[in-house]
Amino acid sequence: MDKELVIVLDFGGQYNQLIARRVRECNVYCEVHPYTLSLDEIKRMNPKGIIFTGGPNSVYGDTSPRCDKAIFDMGIPILGICYGSQLMSYLLGGRVETAPVSEYGKTEVHVDKSSLLFQDVADTTICWMSHTDYISQVPDGFQITATTPNCPVAAFENADKKLYATQFHPEVMHTEEGQKMLRAFVYDVCGCKGDWVMSSFVEETIKQLREKIGDGKVLCALSGGVDSSVAAVLLSKAIGKQLTCVFVDHGLLRKNEGDEVEAVFGPEGPYELNFIRVNAQERYYKRLAGITEPEAKRKIIGEEFINVFEEEAKKIGAVDYLVQGTIYPDIIESGLGDSAVIKSHHNVGGLPEHVDFKEIVEPLRLLFKDEVRKAGLELGIPEYLVYRQPFPGPGLGIRIIGEVTAEKVRIVQDADAIFREEVDKAGIAKDLGQYFAALTNMRSVGVMGDERTYDYAVALRSVNTTDFMTADCSEIPFAVLQKVMNRIINEVKGVNRVMYDLTSKPPGTIEFE
Ligand code: XMP
Repeated sequence: MDKELVIVLDFGGQYNQLIARRVRECNVYCEVHPYTLSLDEIKRMNPKGIIFTGGPNSVYGDTSPRCDKAIFDMGIPILGICYGSQLMSYLLGGRVETAPVSEYGKTEVHVDKSSLLFQDVADTTICWMSHTDYISQVPDGFQITATTPNCPVAAFENADKKLYATQFHPEVMHTEEGQKMLRAFVYDVCGCKGDWVMSSFVEETIKQLREKIGDGKVLCALSGGVDSSVAAVLLSKAIGKQLTCVFVDHGLLRKNEGDEVEAVFGPEGPYELNFIRVNAQERYYKRLAGITEPEAKRKIIGEEFINVFEEEAKKIGAVDYLVQGTIYPDIIESGLGDSAVIKSHHNVGGLPEHVDFKEIVEPLRLLFKDEVRKAGLELGIPEYLVYRQPFPGPGLGIRIIGEVTAEKVRIVQDADAIFREEVDKAGIAKDLGQYFAALTNMRSVGVMGDERTYDYAVALRSVNTTDFMTADCSEIPFAVLQKVMNRIINEVKGVNRVMYDLTSKPPGTIEFE
């Protein structure tokens, strides 16, 4: 394989995938591997460069992760970051010591611009530091190329051997010129040309899936969200009709969403696959009747999803692989204890135990959300699907306060469609993180025409957020809100009041449940 590849060796750093992503942004393919990857394996992969990640350990610890020192003699350029830089220094005979105080946060770093790494950055540049141990002496043959007032060796190198190291983290946004440094490493030190684009990922993944799956049978739970859609299309391109997608319409989707998904993935759509749409609305409404507690609703919706899916899977018979649209942030979240709670109510929670299959395939597990979107566009998936807002697995079931009924679903679907349409018309969609209508369980008196009404209040919610862990209410122009209010009251029967939710997260949540 002569594809340009940079590998990231993971020493336990929290930014391992972020480094890979930054390298991919330089149009060079990059994969993360454990630090235990053998030298033979590295030789076989023939990378243009290697990056050591940071990590929580001290190089002197008995159980600290270390690699074979011979890695530095392979002639492959290496960049050590944070722990990776200390490890390079330690293994090659430099000295690492523990500082009395940690250096943490944005720090002014003075760089030597004659270093290839820093040729395009300012003499003094803001970098992100996060360390207690520091390098007090570099190994023989190495030069110090950056310092801070507290850190005598913020970067060092042996340019002849193409070994580079930074104590700070070039991969995080807080390092203002970090991307330039990584770019310089990848292009000027490793000699990459940058021929990797998302289409290469798509092609390569399709090829690998084809080889792996052979003539096996594959099953996919398609939700219509971007992740499962992109995963399904990749599989469809790889193995065509060996793939069956089951799409459960639980009657809690946004207006027309079920038909939109069917138009893309069904028999009239452009993809070769078996598509099964299960119209399970009635079943869901029946089970949800009388249930008002949000967690109880979530549980029922999740259980019913598994029941329906299991029934369909049984009809199909034993399958070899189950596809999941897991993306990289899902993997981090599930690994972080508390966040796992968020995942436990995710779309297909618990599914694997209930379906008879041999192995799970997760073709998107290394990608971040925006990379998944790029892959989706590359695959020709329509933009409206690729840029779909996040939508909770339990759907409108958790955007209706109190009991869920078909009538309430209709109200919230119509109100939500109006809200989304007006936001689009106003051209402000790109400024908003997530926006939707929810139905409060409150009815109040109003007057319409000369008639007294006693109807529901719709709540509009819109938040701006980058990480969905915290969020602020969006400043939607008042004229847009008023237009939405007018249209909802005029067009959606059963509503006589519209409110805008100002709550941030915390203390609120993004959803309105
Ligand atoms: P909250 O309401 O917890 O929402 O602030 C944070 C983000 O997660 C989405 N969300 C879900 N996504 N299944 C999902 O796939 C769920 O059960 C679920 N609950 C909330 C929510 O839409 C927001 O983007």
